[in-house]
Amino acid sequence: MPATILDGNKIAAEIRAEVAAEAKALAEAGMRPGLAVVLVGHNPASEIYVRGKVKSCEEVGIYSEKHTPPETVTTADLLALVDDLNRRDEIDGILVQLPLPRQVDSKKVLLAVDPAKDVDGFHPMNVGFLSTQRPGLVPCTPGGIMEMLRRSNIAVAGQDAVVVGRSDIVGKPMAMLLLNANATVTVCHSKTRDLPGVCRRADILVAAIGRAGMITRDFVRSGATVIDVGMNKITDRTDFERYFKGNEKREQAFAKNGSTLVGDVHPEVAEIAGAITPVPGGVGPLTIAMLMSNTVRAAKLRRGATVSVG
Ligand code: GUN
Repeated sequence: MPATILDGNKIAAEIRAEVAAEAKALAEAGMRPGLAVVLVGHNPASEIYVRGKVKSCEEVGIYSEKHTPPETVTTADLLALVDDLNRRDEIDGILVQLPLPRQVDSKKVLLAVDPAKDVDGFHPMNVGFLSTQRPGLVPCTPGGIMEMLRRSNIAVAGQDAVVVGRSDIVGKPMAMLLLNANATVTVCHSKTRDLPGVCRRADILVAAIGRAGMITRDFVRSGATVIDVGMNKITDRTDFERYFKGNEKREQAFAKNGSTLVGDVHPEVAEIAGAITPVPGGVGPLTIAMLMSNTVRAAKLRRGATVSVG
């Protein structure tokens, strides 16, 4: 039986609708939530992400402003900007888009963000809150994946979960969220012995490695839930055929654009998984929806608001 497709666009739309209702209630109480996005330089991927974030704010009724320091910005300049945003009462969320240029001390900048406004959940205080199960702000991509599992009625407690990748942004917080939800969690990385064998134990497999199509059918137990966080752009015809040979829709898109997106999971896995996220249209839309949700949450927590919706 082919896998159930976990539709990230549909779930993200549900979350956005809920967030919009909360943002409206806050605005009516004179507390319109506000997000400041800091985009340094002209990284094309970052520009696309930030455009999506600002557009989403407009859709759900969150005030947003974009700050665009030049590529040559110093750590001190960014610290001054963050300090100003920390002080401004109408700003509830601060997001510094990564990666930052080499001359900038990224860790210092992330540490300077007020933890109460840290809508990315990257501040060590929020990382600590997550690992000790205190209320705080949770990174958007892993938070979105938990929402997707919950809203798709996929059980987590007692299940074997395997996370491939140990980044601070996805892998580590994902493992912590699954553990907090009572899964038995294994975290794999480039030094893991017998990676396919470890992955085959998973009831829930999360791939966040950044390598196109690396998770093939021999990594997946029949019926497992497979979450694909990867977004790899492929432009080479041979690569294309390795993943999408015979897929007419993809053929047309590739012919038109000269590129297409493939996740960290090979498309053949859809033949044996129980449920799987597509790329695009799986995890990606949830990340931005959770940023909106975190911004409203930050506004409520910081302002001590008890605004009810409805
Ligand atoms: N760059 C890639 N992913 C992210 C993210 O989730 N947040 C920020 N701030 N930068 C990123």
